[in-house]
Amino acid sequence: LAQDNVFKIGLILPMTGQQATTGRQIEAAAKLWMAQNGDTVAGKKVQLIVKDDASVPANTRRLAQELVVNDKVNVLAGMGITPSALAVAPIATQSKTPLVVMAAATSSITEASPLIVRSSFTLPQAAVAMADWAPKNGIKNVVTLVSDYGPGIDAEKFFKDRFLFNGGKITESLRVPLMNPDFAPFLQKVRDLKPDALFVFTPSGAGAALMKQFGERGMDKAGIRLIGTGDITDDDQLNDMGDVALGVVTSHHYSTFHPSAANKKFVEAFEKANKGLRPNFMAVGGYDGMRIIYEALKKTGGKGGGEALVGAMKGMMFESPRGPVLIDAQTRDITQNIYLRKVEKKNGALWNVEFDVIKDVKDPGKTK
Ligand code: DHB
Repeated sequence: LAQDNVFKIGLILPMTGQQATTGRQIEAAAKLWMAQNGDTVAGKKVQLIVKDDASVPANTRRLAQELVVNDKVNVLAGMGITPSALAVAPIATQSKTPLVVMAAATSSITEASPLIVRSSFTLPQAAVAMADWAPKNGIKNVVTLVSDYGPGIDAEKFFKDRFLFNGGKITESLRVPLMNPDFAPFLQKVRDLKPDALFVFTPSGAGAALMKQFGERGMDKAGIRLIGTGDITDDDQLNDMGDVALGVVTSHHYSTFHPSAANKKFVEAFEKANKGLRPNFMAVGGYDGMRIIYEALKKTGGKGGGEALVGAMKGMMFESPRGPVLIDAQTRDITQNIYLRKVEKKNGALWNVEFDVIKDVKDPGKTK
């Protein structure tokens, strides 16, 4: 096929290393989307090129450069962690290649390039909802504990500002390293401070380790509640966390248990194609990101290059497995429902069961 009859998507993901579950989920979701929707769009053959950056930003940048210069991809996508997305932003800008961010969730990412469109979420969206819920539910004193990089700092700041505004008190704000964190000394400190609750953000895949140590130290038995954004009760790992996770309340944009027909269809198809693997919020970011790319290609017919594709993505609305979503035309960020969920056991398995919703939440991190 001639080059102009092919439409290439360069999907860069952490397939190995600490964030490998993110890569596995998004790759599986992208492949599911293509299996369900075909690989011919607007007369072009869609080709997915998957690269492993092991979530090392220098790798992400090099791979993006190679995909743009050698493979001449039409779209870059993926971005398992914030530093990867920020490393690729200048390449997207210079080459006018759309960059669809499917995982990374620091608010400022979409401001790093006019070619960035996000299908995941932002930490301020999720954190503010929790800061409104907690003080109405007996939580007055909180210690925060976050991974010490972009999304953690967003989660800490947006939770804290809103919680203080709502009359709550933050006793201490702790930050742990992103890579190979040892939570033990931090949790000991929290135990001594004995707040009503510990608010946590750690990235997808890191929650089980924290949950286990929280349980081992008997923090739940000491009356300290665990709250956070839904990254901490990641559906990919939830069933390995054990009963310490029961009753944990989090705020997030997606639960595998979300009770809609569209989600049931998505979960069934995903599990069938992946030996029963439960899709998590990363999978949904990947699936919806592919839809955004397909729809933009349909609208433009591939004419006008990367800027036309991004133009077609602005204002896009559809029903995602998570609920209704909109790509905000001004910010290129995603507007979506944020749900309050509680971990419950049903038929022997743990689920994030939604009990409240804040509809159509724009990223609170965008001031303009
Ligand atoms: C980011 C990564 C995650 O795994 C997550 O759950 C949220 C945010 C990030 O690096 O932006």
